[in-house]
Amino acid sequence: MAKKKSKKAKPKRTKAAASKKSKKRAMKASALPALSKLPYGKAGKALDGVRILDLSHVQAGPTCTQMLAWFGADVIKVERPGIGDITRGQLRDVPNADSLYFTMLNHNKRSITLDTKHPKGKEVLDRLVKICDVLVENFGPGVLDRMGYTWEHIHKLNPRMIVASIKGFGPGPYEDCKVYENVAQCAGGAASTTGFREGPPLVTGAQIGDSGNGLHLSIGIITALYQRMRTGRGQRVNIAMQDGVLNLCRVKLRDQQRLKHGPLTEYRQFGESIPFGKAVPRSGNDSGGGQPGWILKCKGWEEDPDAYIYFITQAPVWEAICDVIGKPEWKTHPDYAKPPARLPRLKQIFDTIEQWTMTKTKFEAMEILNKYNIPCGPILSMKDLAEEPSLRKTGTVVEVDHPTRGKYLSVGNPIKLSDSISEVKRSPLLGEHTEEILGKVLGYNAKEIAEIKQSGATSAPETTRAAAA
Ligand code: COA
Repeated sequence: MAKKKSKKAKPKRTKAAASKKSKKRAMKASALPALSKLPYGKAGKALDGVRILDLSHVQAGPTCTQMLAWFGADVIKVERPGIGDITRGQLRDVPNADSLYFTMLNHNKRSITLDTKHPKGKEVLDRLVKICDVLVENFGPGVLDRMGYTWEHIHKLNPRMIVASIKGFGPGPYEDCKVYENVAQCAGGAASTTGFREGPPLVTGAQIGDSGNGLHLSIGIITALYQRMRTGRGQRVNIAMQDGVLNLCRVKLRDQQRLKHGPLTEYRQFGESIPFGKAVPRSGNDSGGGQPGWILKCKGWEEDPDAYIYFITQAPVWEAICDVIGKPEWKTHPDYAKPPARLPRLKQIFDTIEQWTMTKTKFEAMEILNKYNIPCGPILSMKDLAEEPSLRKTGTVVEVDHPTRGKYLSVGNPIKLSDSISEVKRSPLLGEHTEEILGKVLGYNAKEIAEIKQSGATSAPETTRAAAA
């Protein structure tokens, strides 16, 4: 009887319970952590628990690891004793303080000094490899191998390790070349398509080679981390700076192929009857898309080099444009009414619009044009951006305090996640966390730490220190 009773009391396995169980099983199989019950913004950071071994330097690698650190990864930056990342001392504005070049690219990281060519240093690096999830490096070609950290060695030490690298070029004629930002812009097609037709190739202020590829690398790393949940193994993530720049210049390769079928009608030179050559020309301020645009002078341009506005003659608002600039007759005139008719006349059209923009400041013009949904944008200087209150409010421009240089402005995380709020913490001083990492992260005891320090693996010889000063 009792037996019967207990059988009856057992809850029936409903459909919902079964599906909950199978969901749990699936999550276990993919090694996903248990779901958090904490509210939005309180459940830690997106990359909490991910540990990055950061061997990167200068700009490209550090941009990537800074982004991962903002998302919550624990980034351990390994730096050469005495010197550290070369940018600490480059473009210095405050004597004896880390440069803005360094501080603005290395927020939220910890720094350990380690001579990775010293036997004891290698011993420590081996331990770091074993406990980290991702190794990031952008040394020159062959450097990591020469250090003894081949993919095979790393993979043997830690089969789950993701090894993420940036080099200037992929396999091919230039694979052994060292590369900096502007070289990548030139080799990736940006410089040949930037500037004015009658002038030389130009590099852009946006660091598409370095910071652009740092972003490419972070996407690769996060993707590899995601795949590792299913495979349990690490992989290599390789970015060639030339490839990354070409990826950002994709629309220009589009235009290269369009050239075979006739002139590029949205380029000003078409309207000026200047023939196209064999390759995509520099397009000045022409829009890269299907809606013609140009940079136009605004009131005050004679004194202020940034008193300009970008103006797009978007087809759906053409009639509003005609009214605003005082040319209502263009709404029905056969030379102006339809977009194809306007293409050969772009220079004349923009010269006429400029007569109107020159009567307004860039901000006045912006206000008027926005009322009519006419796409436009003021040319903002770095001073304008640094002082813009809305950017401060969103944390895109932040003020950071630093123990040796004082307060400075930086660019915060431009990617806003609603459940993983970024906070910008100052960059580390050289070797600031050496002991902490040796002890708390790698588990060395006090005696062992003293031995490591004694060996010279974490400190620089006098000569190196003097050279870096
Ligand atoms: N301990 C001991 N030695 C260290 C070390 C450490 N912690 N960290 C670096 N080194 C050594 C390396 O072992 C290497 O020595 P080696 O040449 O004897 O093997 C050297 O320092 C670094 O070499 P490299 O990366 O070639 O630096 P570089 O200053 O000569 O060149 C770049 C700089 C940026 C041109 C080059 O690193 C490069 O082409 N990187 C790839 C592309 C890239 O990212 N470019 C953009 C940078 S923003």
